Amino acid sequence: MDTGTDPGADTGNGRAVQRPPAEVRHADELRRLAETDTGERPPGWALSLTAARRFIVGDPGTGITRKFVGDPSLIDRALVSLATSRGLMLVGEPGTAKSLLSELLAAAVSGVSTLTIQGGAATTEDQIKYSWNYALLVAEGPSTRSLVRAPLLRGMAEGRVVRFEEITRCPLEVQDSLLSPLSDRVLAIPELIGPDAMVFARDGFNVIATANTRDRGVNEMSAALKRRFNFETVFPIADFETELALVEAEAGALLHRSGVTAAPRRDVLEVLVTTFRELRAGQTVRGDAMDRLTSVMSTAEAVSVAHAVGLRGWFLRGESGTAADVVACLAGTAAKDSPEDLAKLRRYLEQQVSWRRGGQWQALHDARHQLPG
Ligand SMILES: Nc1ncnc2c1ncn2[C@@H]1O[C@H](COP(=O)(O)OP(=O)(O)OP(=O)(O)O)[C@@H](O)[C@H]1O
Ligand SMILES: [Mg+2]
Repeated sequence: MDTGTDPGADTGNGRAVQRPPAEVRHADELRRLAETDTGERPPGWALSLTAARRFIVGDPGTGITRKFVGDPSLIDRALVSLATSRGLMLVGEPGTAKSLLSELLAAAVSGVSTLTIQGGAATTEDQIKYSWNYALLVAEGPSTRSLVRAPLLRGMAEGRVVRFEEITRCPLEVQDSLLSPLSDRVLAIPELIGPDAMVFARDGFNVIATANTRDRGVNEMSAALKRRFNFETVFPIADFETELALVEAEAGALLHRSGVTAAPRRDVLEVLVTTFRELRAGQTVRGDAMDRLTSVMSTAEAVSVAHAVGLRGWFLRGESGTAADVVACLAGTAAKDSPEDLAKLRRYLEQQVSWRRGGQWQALHDARHQLPG
């Protein structure tokens, strides 16, 4: 038992971290890649481009797992961008693994993926560049001791990749604070005097920003800032089998972490992934047109529904979850944006499910009454 500690203190309580950063999750692979890496490394990089690519797309021969599913040429272009003086902007639909890819790229290039700015309406320049420790500021005035370095300043000074998540959610003037770091590679701290007043970026520094196309778009970004990024679009996974395999692997790993020992059932996952793909595309596998949902039915959402299905099955009944659990879990995903989506989902379960073969499709159809409302 934990006794005598401040209840607010971060003791960890011996509990595992829910999601360690990529460089911790894959520390062993990064170490092995660095040890065997014979390729040329751009200045300041932890790995060569080819080793960084293998880290992300996988290399079965040497036991490096595939972490991002998608076009390997996208990874090449992303890595080349990071070696240039332009930033990398990953854009795409929600849940297409833009954040995951930016994390993996930062871990491969710099060995660190935690120099991250989370963009939002309330993001300020302080959170991007630097702020002050007010007690020290009052006691000593502005100094390198009272300076609190935010991710951009640290990335520049240490020569590492900085991640800027959801950049388009920030006010435009805050976005524009990236202009001189990206073009002149320098950040001024006017409060300091002498050499400390200018922080010059070191080799290895660059910025990976992400933006999703459903929120405020990249169109509103200033032309000056756009020009300082190479844009890459991350697309949803095109192929059914690939998406199914990813959902199976990811949901399996999440369930394992949640203490569930029953692996997800393949026939249930097939139903789940097919349902997601059809509701996303507005077309059934046999080619019938149907209503597409306005909610995002991304692979990331499919993974979290598969996780929830497994949890329901295991913790409510001691088994691995069925298509009836899919219906129960779908409602919360599909009805986010509009109540109409719930009606569309109900129509889908009534009209587009009963003609299919397979016990789990039948179970999905039978469970349609479990949709709320
Ligand atoms: N192509 C893919 N490769 C690997 N994992 C994927 C892929 N597409 C989706 N995923 C799943 O989605 C999760 C990542 O979603 P992530 O949060 O990175 O998406 P995002 O594009 O940043 O979404 P958002 O725009 O909502 O921030 C992964 O953990 C994985 O389970
Ligand atoms: Mg994201």
